[in-house]
Amino acid sequence: MAVAALLVVIALALGLGIGLTRNRTSSSSTLGPSSSPAPSSSPSPSPSTPTVGNTTSTYTLPDWKLDTSTAYRISKTWNSSEPATTRIYNFTISEVTGWPDGYNRTLTVINGQFPGPLIEVNMGDRLIINVQNNGVNMTTIHYHGLYQNGTNYMDGTYQISQCGIPPGSSFTYNFTVPDQYGTYWYHSHYSTQYMDGVIGPLVIHAQEEDDLIGNMYDYDQVVLVSDWYHGLSQGYMAAYLASGNENVEPVPDNGLINGGAYFDCSLTPGDTCYQQDANRTAFNFEQNKTYRLRVINTGAFADIEFSVDEHPLTLVEGDGVLIAPTTLHKLAIAVAQRYSVLITTNVTGTDNFWVRAELDQYCFATTNPVLVDYSITGVLNYVSDANSVALPYSNNITASTASWGDVPANLLCLDLNNTSIEPMVAMQAPDATVFYRIDAGFMIGAYAIDLAYINGTTWKPAFESNLYQAYRMLSPSLSSAVVDNNSTELLNTTGPLPLGVLGGDQSQYIINVPDYQVVDLLINNLDDGSHPFHLHGYKFWVMGTGTGVFPYNDYGDFNTTNPMRRDTLQVQAYGWALIRFVADNAGFWPLHCHITWHLEAGLLMQFEIQPSKIAQFQPPAAWAQLCAAQ
Ligand code: C2O
Repeated sequence: MAVAALLVVIALALGLGIGLTRNRTSSSSTLGPSSSPAPSSSPSPSPSTPTVGNTTSTYTLPDWKLDTSTAYRISKTWNSSEPATTRIYNFTISEVTGWPDGYNRTLTVINGQFPGPLIEVNMGDRLIINVQNNGVNMTTIHYHGLYQNGTNYMDGTYQISQCGIPPGSSFTYNFTVPDQYGTYWYHSHYSTQYMDGVIGPLVIHAQEEDDLIGNMYDYDQVVLVSDWYHGLSQGYMAAYLASGNENVEPVPDNGLINGGAYFDCSLTPGDTCYQQDANRTAFNFEQNKTYRLRVINTGAFADIEFSVDEHPLTLVEGDGVLIAPTTLHKLAIAVAQRYSVLITTNVTGTDNFWVRAELDQYCFATTNPVLVDYSITGVLNYVSDANSVALPYSNNITASTASWGDVPANLLCLDLNNTSIEPMVAMQAPDATVFYRIDAGFMIGAYAIDLAYINGTTWKPAFESNLYQAYRMLSPSLSSAVVDNNSTELLNTTGPLPLGVLGGDQSQYIINVPDYQVVDLLINNLDDGSHPFHLHGYKFWVMGTGTGVFPYNDYGDFNTTNPMRRDTLQVQAYGWALIRFVADNAGFWPLHCHITWHLEAGLLMQFEIQPSKIAQFQPPAAWAQLCAAQ
């Protein structure tokens, strides 16, 4: 399955009358899937001779490494208006040994490669993903940001919308994407598994999007940014949740840009680390063109400041919502958020620029001695021919450019100001008909273990999926869970009200929205850290955010004229956010912090929306079978 992409790069310095200091090369090259698979049983570092000037060199990607220079380049000739079709992807999950930044570790990957393949569809298409789990743990695949309206059972959340796919088993995801477009991603939603490599981009094309922004750019490229840990994720959990550890999250060892980064192997003496493969990702972009970069934070913990030296970023999309173009120098992107930015390759003076994913160190509770440089770098490399492909990964391509100096440090790990951006396709936020409030924070409980609580409940996976329980009982609510039918606060209420936890199972906090409502949810963050909250199944309007106590007296004054809509919002430390959504999509939809440590510590609640429609769902037999087989 895994194919080693053999890149034979013949770089010819043609001169072109440009001074040598510009280091301009014109490369002609051949690229293609090659027939040179590296042995997977005995991983050996591959040769990576640099291409500089008029040398000829060969670079063989390790077979586990996806060639993102081609796999994540989105064709501008994609036809977004062709008739709806079914697009089928086959995912085999397995463990491999790999070294994205040179440091050797076990990865859990899709189809033998990291990062995962690009899923590309048109709005209106049906998507089928056949998942075969050949890994050692349970798995599920979640399609982050997709509405799944009518197909909640395909949302891929472990023990919420489905039971897990055990090792050796398979499951087919089958759903349509009728009414959304833009940049999304998919990831395992079993425990912390996505941190180990089960992630990838998902792009939905639409004629409507092309009409609005298609003529603004020449090329289209996915850019995954993330923190990176050198060990298997589950190994960190025991320490994180140990008695006496007060929410001190493991600090990453590094970060990655499209699955690659530099790492200094001498920092980990005695460990297996291939310095010659500790390669930065290079973006070989044609000069004087405009590129759409679809930046996705696929990480687990770190807030990231994304930038390209000397290239302003024109923001045009956030979480699948087109934004009236606005220019930035650095883009704050929290875990699980997506933004599209445009850059134009027209800077003179040099051809090589740092692409930066700066890990926001201010929100780490401690330090990691091997994380010596918080600025994770790739290289933007100007080339004169779009079809030339220079080395996609090379620590030998460097830059000497400086980071934007005018952007203050993001000390509080804040989102960009959501009120400063405006969706291109205007939508008025309707008046809310119901108002809920959740208080989220960490508390030291039994055995001095610090867990996360939402309205007094700390989440852990139920014994089987909540949707399955509800569906099987054809019941309007779960008898075994903390179903909160009574937490509705009156509109225009003043001041805090008692929390609405009822008796029963102490691990599922569920707000039951029995019929069509326009929901206001006030999220109070009682913690000293920022939390990127994600709501499944919806985009919500960001009605307001702030610090301290929510201004109940100003409720009703919030702007309803086209506020930003999104699916993941950073809620700042000791702050609040008021979000609004139309509860028209039946099912169990979690709202959770996307920092995997916090999710596993229990920072998750659920909406159970329109249970009478849940009873009418028609999930495939294989879906119920996963629960029966547990
Ligand atoms: Cu990205 Cu609960 O998901």
